[in-house]
Amino acid sequence: MKHLLKLLDLSGEEIISILNLADQLKYENKHHIPHPLLAGKTLGMIFEKASTRTRVSFEVGMNQLGGTPLFLSSGDMQIGRGEPVEDTARVLSRYLDGIMIRTYSQEEVENLAKFGNIPIINGLTDFCHPCQVLADLMTIREYKGSLNGLKMCFIGDGNNMMNSLIVGGLKCGMQVSVACPEGYRPPKVILDFAEGNPDFSMFEKPEEAAKDADVLITDVWASMGQEGEAEKRKKAFAGYQINDSLMALAKPDAMVLHCLPAHRGEEITAEVFEKHAKEIFDEAENRLHAQKAVLVKVLGDEEE
Ligand code: CP
Ligand code: NVA
Repeated sequence: MKHLLKLLDLSGEEIISILNLADQLKYENKHHIPHPLLAGKTLGMIFEKASTRTRVSFEVGMNQLGGTPLFLSSGDMQIGRGEPVEDTARVLSRYLDGIMIRTYSQEEVENLAKFGNIPIINGLTDFCHPCQVLADLMTIREYKGSLNGLKMCFIGDGNNMMNSLIVGGLKCGMQVSVACPEGYRPPKVILDFAEGNPDFSMFEKPEEAAKDADVLITDVWASMGQEGEAEKRKKAFAGYQINDSLMALAKPDAMVLHCLPAHRGEEITAEVFEKHAKEIFDEAENRLHAQKAVLVKVLGDEEE
């Protein structure tokens, strides 16, 4: 695997192979078995948006793999003052073994890969959040045993999380149903991928999407960069909430995931969040293991 730019670029087999390696690395981590698979390698981590989980899990993960993470805040870099991404990519390719980037535009991430000659990992754009969804799929598999045939339901914004869940879920043989208000549907490239697949369904009413779901997932109503739309979005998304009455429509043993940070009382109630806190924080932990697997796949000397 050369890069992780978006899940659309991977096959279902490649996704499952990352999850298998993630399970193995988690086992080794829990049993204190050293795995310095990236000794001597340096990962640059460019952040143009805030982060808790992504930053810490990549930094700790790189250390556990014997490599060195380098935190690069865009505010302190020339890229933040307008140095073109194509120059930044060519310079950083001379120093680093790989780059993880969190930014706004997917195009910027694709351009880093195009102009640089080192592996690029997408740590979230407005378009997608592949690292998060690999951790989500890993967590679902841990709880349910396998992914094939399970029904995943996402309630909320047709944004980075919904986009990656649709692609990752369908590629792994899941049924994916989503509910979003009109005007907040996923972009055309995602609908072109999903529509026509009998495992995909899209509704306006959360109640229709949640029916018989094995896993319910949601995300904030206003993502990073959309703070100015918060009030408008509160109105548009009212009712797009995982609460007890929605849970009653899902399977009795349905699990709940949330990429975090969560806004209790908006997209999820405090009650449902706390009832499913074990799953949600296992999901957060799995960011570490899933990303270590990605790092080994793209930065490792041998294809694992
Ligand atoms: N879920 C997630 O990506 O969290 P951070 O924004 O804290 O990295
Ligand atoms: N959709 C959210 C995810 C945060 C991890 C955002 O982009 O802010």
